[in-house]
Amino acid sequence: MSEKRARKDFTDGPLCLSGRGVTKVFGLGDKKTVAVDHVDFDFHEGEFVSIVGESGSGKTTLSKMLLGLLSPTEGEILFEGKPRDISSGRKKREYWKGIQAIFQDPFSSYNVFHKIDSVLLDCINMRGGRALSREKKIEMMTEACSFVNLKFAELTNKYPFELSGGQMQRLMIARIFLLKPRILLADEPTSMVDACSRATILDMLLDLRDETGMTIIFITHDIGLAYYISDTVYIMEHGKFVESGKADEVILSPKAAYTKRLISDVPKIHEEWDLSTVDLKAEE
Ligand SMILES: Nc1ncnc2c1ncn2[C@@H]1O[C@H](COP(=O)(O)OP(=O)(O)O)[C@@H](O)[C@H]1O
Ligand SMILES: [Mg+2]
Repeated sequence: MSEKRARKDFTDGPLCLSGRGVTKVFGLGDKKTVAVDHVDFDFHEGEFVSIVGESGSGKTTLSKMLLGLLSPTEGEILFEGKPRDISSGRKKREYWKGIQAIFQDPFSSYNVFHKIDSVLLDCINMRGGRALSREKKIEMMTEACSFVNLKFAELTNKYPFELSGGQMQRLMIARIFLLKPRILLADEPTSMVDACSRATILDMLLDLRDETGMTIIFITHDIGLAYYISDTVYIMEHGKFVESGKADEVILSPKAAYTKRLISDVPKIHEEWDLSTVDLKAEE
């Protein structure tokens, strides 16, 4: 985890997902909560974006709107530069071919009665591979498992609950490898695993982006993780983006008081994430 990631500049690249004035209000009158408050964003193809904020800042609500599981109270979401239309079941299913998610608790994401090979087989079928030969399907599942350092042969007859948390999260990534969505949304995917699995999972997400060119939206409360992994960060406080930009710029020279506080809450950010290898002068 020590080398500094080569971060790319996506500013002029093709747009993948954008938002204009995206807002979500829960409840009415005195009981009203503005969970997401007029946020604007542009996520580009192949970009690794982190959305960072404390608990309650609106991250999960925003994720659900991005996934099309909640509709915005106000504002507009654009997919590949055009207004997103998920007004019918068919259009929603089409949209979900393009965007997939992995969540905090991998155990909640599986049907416990389905063996692992059928979990993976479903992904191949969903991608239109139903008619492929059995050999080809096994080859694809084996490749997906080896991408995340799992052995397909040892998993075929197991159920998801027979895996550890870290193995489950890796299986989630193997599913994404087979589904190949344009966008992966990962909401705190490493918060239930130990530090060692966390590093492995983060590296696998980076490999996945590098290999497939998918856009990854990584949701976290941990600005240290965001620094390690992302090209671009959006800092979220009380439903608003208080600051956004290239990870190096935002985290090495934060402007918003909230960002400064998040950084100061991670006193060892410089050591843990090895900022020591960064030439700070060159960054200015
Ligand atoms: N379904 C809901 N009904 C009412 N309030 C909600 C609902 N979901 C989230 N909230 C509120 O919206 C705010 C943002 O929550 P959330 O999006 O879960 O934040 P985060 O994921 O950053 O912790 C919080 O104040 C939360 O209580
Ligand atoms: Mg959340």
